Amino acid sequence: MSEKFRPQFHFAPRSGWMNDPNGMIQVDGVYHLFFQHDPDSTVQGPMHWGHARSTDLVTWEELPVALYPTALGTCFSGSAIETADGALKLFYTAHQRPDDRDFQTQCLVHADRALTSFTSEPANPVIDNPGLECFRDPKVIWHAPTDRWIMAVTLGQSVGFYSSTDLVVWTFESAFGETDGRHSDGPWECPDLVAMQAPDGSEHWVLMVGIGSGAYGLGSGSQYFIGQFDGHRFTNANTPATELWLDYGRDFYAAQSFFDRSGAAPVNMAWASNWIYARTTQTQAFRGVMSLPREMHLVDTPDGLRIAQRVPAGVKQAFAALTGATGTYRQDIEIDLAVGEQAAITLFGEKRPHFTLHRLSQQSAAIRTVRAEVAGMPDFAHDYVVDLAYPAQGPLALELYVDRGLVELGTSDGLVWITNLFFPEHPAGAVVVSTMQALENA
Ligand code: FRU
Repeated sequence: MSEKFRPQFHFAPRSGWMNDPNGMIQVDGVYHLFFQHDPDSTVQGPMHWGHARSTDLVTWEELPVALYPTALGTCFSGSAIETADGALKLFYTAHQRPDDRDFQTQCLVHADRALTSFTSEPANPVIDNPGLECFRDPKVIWHAPTDRWIMAVTLGQSVGFYSSTDLVVWTFESAFGETDGRHSDGPWECPDLVAMQAPDGSEHWVLMVGIGSGAYGLGSGSQYFIGQFDGHRFTNANTPATELWLDYGRDFYAAQSFFDRSGAAPVNMAWASNWIYARTTQTQAFRGVMSLPREMHLVDTPDGLRIAQRVPAGVKQAFAALTGATGTYRQDIEIDLAVGEQAAITLFGEKRPHFTLHRLSQQSAAIRTVRAEVAGMPDFAHDYVVDLAYPAQGPLALELYVDRGLVELGTSDGLVWITNLFFPEHPAGAVVVSTMQALENA
């Protein structure tokens, strides 16, 4: 297919609309990715769950649509689990819009082991609406210490936690976040709760949640909290005012991790778009792209534990192998700047730098990210600055992925990522890094 902006290394549906990643789970060595999908149009209509699978997180095979709207509503975002005896279940939000108001409930679906047949739980909805317009995006995890399932689900601008032993009867435990992190006029969406290990081996809980508008860049973005979760409540280890971001770009939303009980480093993926212009991006047969998968690690910083993200080695290698192939490019870059000096990364053979790296002092550095207007896409242009995290003296290291207009730039040992979509005239145009020393291509 010769679609100009069809990515080579990122998942995009064959046709139709796509937003959030849903139901991410690894079963018998196969990664399954479901996604918010309207197979019949490239503008979000009645939501279905699309489905794709991969054995290496590089090549994706799209499968038939998994979930169709029912009498309970269309199928909004949710998650997948595997029980101890190997049964697979999906949870999603059934969405209706009577009287011009959202009405949302949580539903359970039983699946076979190949994830090819799906049966609605007769008791659906398993959680009725508690009187909230925004009550959605159930993420279910196994909480071993209390021997129960936990569901994180957004309640307006907080995350609610429910517990269950049988996946059908759920008890409300608590809510978190009303006064923590970033709030705006947009809802919180698509929570995820994962246990992770700090470098000293201690266990901590990470709560990720999307904020629909008013994120770090203009519009939608993915924030996270680090703390403890005892099966009942989440306690923030940082001050309520602390804002932590999984990405500082404008196209990394609704991030979710693969369901996993093994304790391995969680791997996330996000929808590489932003609600403020998602419906107007340039498109042909499809609209919507996922980010590259990223492994999440807790690392020690002067401010406490933070999440560093790394593209898995296999994905990195596969990407590097095709660098230069019609619009894909991957490079590790090291730039040594004296205080006050700047370096520029210019993409797509264009003139104006898209990223400008600035060494501000021995201890500080920043990246200015610039995107030009695109006709027909209001609010797409931007120009703002992202501080690098704890830049030591000496060269600054960056890793860059470009895939048909989707750009992911990582730095600060994975503490800072900037994911931005572009719709350039020449997606395969040259990438030029001034004062660059190319390190390696793998
Ligand atoms: C986030 C979101 C979710 C919702 C889904 C609908 O992008 O708004 O909260 O379930 O998209 O497609």
